[in-house]
Amino acid sequence: MTLRNIALCGLLLATLVASLPTFVAAQSSAAAMPPNRHAADADWWKHAVVYELYPRSFADSNNDGTGDLNGIIQHLDYLQQLGVDAIWLTPMFPSPQVDFGYDVSDYRAVDPQYGTLKDFDRLVSEARKRGIKIILDFVVNHTSDQHKWFKESRSSRTNRYRDFYIWRDGRAPNEPPNNWRSLFGGSSWKLDTTTGQYYYHFFYPEQPDLNWRNPKVEREMFNTMRWWFKRGVYGFRLDAVDVLYEDPNLRDNPVLEGTDAYGSPKQERKYDHSIPEVHAALQRMRRVVDEYPGRVLIGETWTSTPQELAEYYGPHNDELQLPMYFNFTTINKLDAVRFRQRIEAVETNSAGGWPVFVLSNHDIIRQVDRYTPPGADKDQVARLLAALYLTLRGTPILYMGEELGMHNNDPVRREDVKDVIGRLGWPKEKGRDGERTPMQWDATVNAGFNQGAATWLPVGSDYKTRNVAVESADPVSVLNWYRRLIELRRTVPALSEGDYNTLPVSDEHLLAFSRTSQGKTVVVLLNMSGDEQTVSLADLAPRGLRALATTAVTMSGAQVKLSAYGALVAEVE
Ligand code: GLC
Repeated sequence: MTLRNIALCGLLLATLVASLPTFVAAQSSAAAMPPNRHAADADWWKHAVVYELYPRSFADSNNDGTGDLNGIIQHLDYLQQLGVDAIWLTPMFPSPQVDFGYDVSDYRAVDPQYGTLKDFDRLVSEARKRGIKIILDFVVNHTSDQHKWFKESRSSRTNRYRDFYIWRDGRAPNEPPNNWRSLFGGSSWKLDTTTGQYYYHFFYPEQPDLNWRNPKVEREMFNTMRWWFKRGVYGFRLDAVDVLYEDPNLRDNPVLEGTDAYGSPKQERKYDHSIPEVHAALQRMRRVVDEYPGRVLIGETWTSTPQELAEYYGPHNDELQLPMYFNFTTINKLDAVRFRQRIEAVETNSAGGWPVFVLSNHDIIRQVDRYTPPGADKDQVARLLAALYLTLRGTPILYMGEELGMHNNDPVRREDVKDVIGRLGWPKEKGRDGERTPMQWDATVNAGFNQGAATWLPVGSDYKTRNVAVESADPVSVLNWYRRLIELRRTVPALSEGDYNTLPVSDEHLLAFSRTSQGKTVVVLLNMSGDEQTVSLADLAPRGLRALATTAVTMSGAQVKLSAYGALVAEVE
């Protein structure tokens, strides 16, 4: 009998104990995270849990209100105990901070507010001692307008850096070259009076796009990668790589119905997004990466179909090892049917590639706020989402604070907004401050983020009870649930490398799948509803089930009762 044939029955088992509080099976102690046996493998990233760390908000060691590299070093033990294998550090390069680091003015240095290159080297070596690799965020599409290349470029039409950026004449007096709209509002073109031409910026005007058709740009960027590899960096997350190229003929985008958050007519991004030339560039970039064993490329790849995603792996798996699949982030409700469809789409279309599902990051409203239905227990939904995310095939990328079940802390007044898009698009677009508030370490002042100096964003109001210290001591906390699931990924091969199979269910609110490796099968049951669900796994597990991690679940043999938003991870005996 194949797993696919097994029907899970939606029986209500009156014989089961009525309800049990949430619990975690075989709870591990914080210090007991087993080592990752694959840490030295060339494809270590397939067995890794990556942690996205936003340095402004992680830990502020010098009490100036923003986080810094030394703050990260002070908390590396925490990350080791969580089971983190690699940190994706969002940009800490010198920057005017218009887009909080995504406007880089020097790719080969550290912004003084975060520390020095020496601090960075110490971070790399202290992390290495704990089995943690550092991955940098490489802002490949654009620089800051304060980068020396752009200052040169804008100074005259004949400057040797002119062609590092995209300069064009307007199509008529006071009219930009075409109708393209910046993702952050308004035209994508800005007239620069010094030379009377427009430059192109997909994001803010302070973020001019690099011209990747200029081989000198490519050479500079590739050499920058080599420079960081030699410093011990294990890879890059490529920022906005899907907009690296634009249509060479600058054709107008088709205009759609309605307006965006900034009041401009919406448009189909036909000519300024996903231009196929990106693939050849990524293949060349991958050759640079392959000069250094074990290095990895993660891509911020927004795609509309899994086929488009598959292209980012390259025709011979010679582009990105880890292109991100963002199509979970648009579901925005606990809809088991849609989750299942999107998982299956990747499983059948990833061209042999290794998946990277995305649930959360520094640009997206925190997952408990996106997915928790009105009135439901957010912590229980946090556990359910963790059980989904950490048991799928692929490499999970945990956004800092999700492991605590942190909530969005949105600004309530426009004047408090720090993220410029929030000021431009208020109130429709509140910006991304809410998901970037300081990490909550303990119940002391400012959640232990610093020693009391005003923090760049306010600390979440629930910090006294939702923090690392409190949750570490609570065996059924969201944090200990994450630790338990990560421990399972390290110790149960079916979960880290097993095949994925959807299991048929009789209730549309259940998501059920199995992972199989070396003859061992692990079953995952997720109740995406507030109603109790009862399932028989007798056909699949005639000899019974061994619970590996459960929350809001009661079991009797192969009969499983899942309370609201309950989750079960169990091995078939
Ligand atoms: C990416 C980053 C985002 C940034 C943008 C421009 O989408 O994740 O934070 O604003 O690129 O660099």
